[in-house]
Amino acid sequence: MATKPTKVTISFDNDRAPVELPVLSGTLGNDVIDIRKLGKHGIYTYDPGFLSTASCSSDITFINGEEGNLYHRGYPIEQLAENANFLEVAHLLIKGDLPNAKEKKNFSLAIERHTMLHDQMLNVFRGFRRDAHPMAVIVSVVGAMAAFYPEQTNVTDPKLREIAALRLLAKAPTIAAWSYKYTIGQPFVYPQNKLSYAENFLYMMFATPCEEYVVSPILAKAFERILILHADHEQNASTSTVRLVGSSGANPFACIAAGIASLWGPAHGGANEATLKMLDEIGDVSCIDEYIARAKDKNDSFRLMGFGHRVYRNMDPRAAIMRKTCHEVLNELGLHDDPMFKLAMRLEKIALEDEYFVKRKLYPNVDFYSGIVMRAMGIPNSMFTAIFALARTAGWIAQWNEMHTDSSNKIGRPRQLYTGEAKRDFVPIDDRK
Ligand code: SDX
Repeated sequence: MATKPTKVTISFDNDRAPVELPVLSGTLGNDVIDIRKLGKHGIYTYDPGFLSTASCSSDITFINGEEGNLYHRGYPIEQLAENANFLEVAHLLIKGDLPNAKEKKNFSLAIERHTMLHDQMLNVFRGFRRDAHPMAVIVSVVGAMAAFYPEQTNVTDPKLREIAALRLLAKAPTIAAWSYKYTIGQPFVYPQNKLSYAENFLYMMFATPCEEYVVSPILAKAFERILILHADHEQNASTSTVRLVGSSGANPFACIAAGIASLWGPAHGGANEATLKMLDEIGDVSCIDEYIARAKDKNDSFRLMGFGHRVYRNMDPRAAIMRKTCHEVLNELGLHDDPMFKLAMRLEKIALEDEYFVKRKLYPNVDFYSGIVMRAMGIPNSMFTAIFALARTAGWIAQWNEMHTDSSNKIGRPRQLYTGEAKRDFVPIDDRK
């Protein structure tokens, strides 16, 4: 096996002296060139969108995009989705390993202690119009938590960071469910701590004060899996946002609110809602070819939502698990002939055989099937990204915490390639054209 490089020399095609830089290796994945000292040589690297740039070192999640593998602290996502519950995965991400029986009980009890919101927070919800998008409500309520827990704005104290993490993880389902209840004009339903994390969310989403509501174990199991599949994913746009905001010492609530805002974009977590809208718009198998042609047309801004990924050059392993969950939930709900699912399966097949998608290694990602499962569960499109944010809160907290325990952590401050005007003198108004 070839030995790993330990350094690289950059030489220039002019009289500038070559620069020698260390090469670092991780446990898995590509080596990296440590360019931290490069600036001192009067030159920077240029990588808009960070296609080839590692922003940090991390022990939390690893993706092998070529092979379509996803590990959380070394555990393959397939094994976690099959065997763990969401709080076990949250514990794994945040604390570094799967909890033993005692740790699992204590973690669940600690979460239960914080599921309710401060009563005054109801007024934050009530400041919105009823037709507000749930993501607008959630980003505001999470940010407002800094006003309710001012002591937690001290990010240097690990104990305070831990309590803030528990509060965010515990309140996320309540905030998400209440953002839905508010938009449909139903009263907020309070969490029932005897229920599991997934059951509690579905209970707060669908129960009313007028009658008993029992959460379907089938839907609770499927929802648990949806949460696990969305929990963390390396340095994606929203996680990188949380880290960058956190690098200035901002409080955890502001950091997670920033992550929620970034996730909302249709190129990122908003793709699950956009995928369902796209499937609704396509409507019928007979229209698929027209939309595939539009996705390939450079003059058309339309893209096949739920397809493609910055890292995966193979099937997103989460999409494969989500497709399987789709089958299970639709069959168990007697919806195996769901036209939306059949349309999605057909669209996936056609795209995967099309040269344009094959050449660019564009495969279905986690968002392609998640919306179909959630819609079958009775969850409206507008809540899909809110649920993504609910699940990703575990990963954002883990990554934010890891950043604060990293001694090499500095405030994020990228440089630029300046392409504007060179120095010039002020022009008095009478001399301007
Ligand atoms: C998530 O990063 C993460 O980990 C994110 C995420 C997570 O868990 O945090 O996995 C969650 O965000 C999943 C992605 C959800 N987004 C979508 O499904 C939206 C549709 N996908 C595309 O917008 C796109 O694929 C991205 C944004 C996901 C990735 O964009 P890249 O890496 O910047 O890819 P690109 O734009 O450079 O595309 C490369 C080529 C281009 O064509 P050419 O210039 O080579 O001719 O592929 C084309 C693109 O036009 N392309 C698509 C396409 N995605 C890429 N063409 C049609 N339909 C698509 N969906």
